Amino acid sequence: MPVDIKDRHAVAERLLAYYDRHRRSLPWRAPSGQTPDPYAVWLSEIMLQQTTVAAVTPRFARFLLRWPRLADLAAADEADVMAEWAGLGYYSRARNLVACARVVTEQHGGRLPDNEAALRKLPGIGDYTAAAIAAIAFGRRAVVIDANIERVAARLFAISEPLPGAKKAIRAATDAITPDARAGDFAQGLMDLGSAICTPRDPQCLICPLGASCEARASGKPEAFPVKAPKKARPERHGTAYWIERDGAVALVKRPPRGMLGGMRGFPDDGWHAGANGDGAPPIEAAWRIEHAAVRHGFTHFSVTLDLALCIDAPADMVGGQYWPVARLDEAGLPTLFAKAAQRFMEMRRHAT
Ligand code: ADE
Repeated sequence: MPVDIKDRHAVAERLLAYYDRHRRSLPWRAPSGQTPDPYAVWLSEIMLQQTTVAAVTPRFARFLLRWPRLADLAAADEADVMAEWAGLGYYSRARNLVACARVVTEQHGGRLPDNEAALRKLPGIGDYTAAAIAAIAFGRRAVVIDANIERVAARLFAISEPLPGAKKAIRAATDAITPDARAGDFAQGLMDLGSAICTPRDPQCLICPLGASCEARASGKPEAFPVKAPKKARPERHGTAYWIERDGAVALVKRPPRGMLGGMRGFPDDGWHAGANGDGAPPIEAAWRIEHAAVRHGFTHFSVTLDLALCIDAPADMVGGQYWPVARLDEAGLPTLFAKAAQRFMEMRRHAT
């Protein structure tokens, strides 16, 4: 690796100096020099997987107001936590959060373990999260790699192998520049650098504290790194969601615990899922008002277009559904796809009456 040992120390020093001057003030970060609450660090790192800082910030505060300590979360009703998570996506994170709080309460005396190996054994904590918590909350030396850090490291060393194959080389590069002390500040400094300066399309190399050591900058095309393998097209799915209303209440089903949107509430459907289209067969016989292709939503691995079918005077209760008052539908904790559908359904309903 061409950045030599002496330069590696210089990289860490310059990056930490940048962090001390320019760090973002974020609610899960302790003031400079203080140790953050491990519970808050854990919660923030789980929320920040796949979700932006801007989206997480208000939700993090609301979550902590509701469950201020790990013991409160361990005692919480899982359904309440799932509903609080509504709109953030990747709902298995919420289920794992409760499971993890309970394991920590029962097996670790209510405190998160302070090392990567023990953290990695907990529900919902993988390599990234274990490293981030160990470094940020407990001051351990750990190699933390998220998408921002991946980009900075790939550029610093001009790693030309395409992702995902380059992950091993990126780990070795990040390991080589991670200091023994302040690994948590170092990781968060790389994240801040990646978000403010070493951005995907338009890196600001002239003001970058690592510019002098950066091989991608020297190549003249820093934005070409990290190199990515061509993307596969996302599959398109098609299905129908049903609004089944009786006496001012609408049928909601609880989705099976595993799989897409597992454990979340949603509208009854025609059996569509991540791997197949629906068959268009409604759950009850009724006179439906149908709006074709009314809702579109993108998940990570596929997109879906939903037809919406509405019946506001259902002839019989739907078996297996829970009837939820229409006036309080915003309290049902619907995930984004069904919240979009609910909005359209409410408009269809206004036209129907
Ligand atoms: N993304 C993931 N973890 C983060 C952190 N600690 N600070 C800023 N962005 C992050």
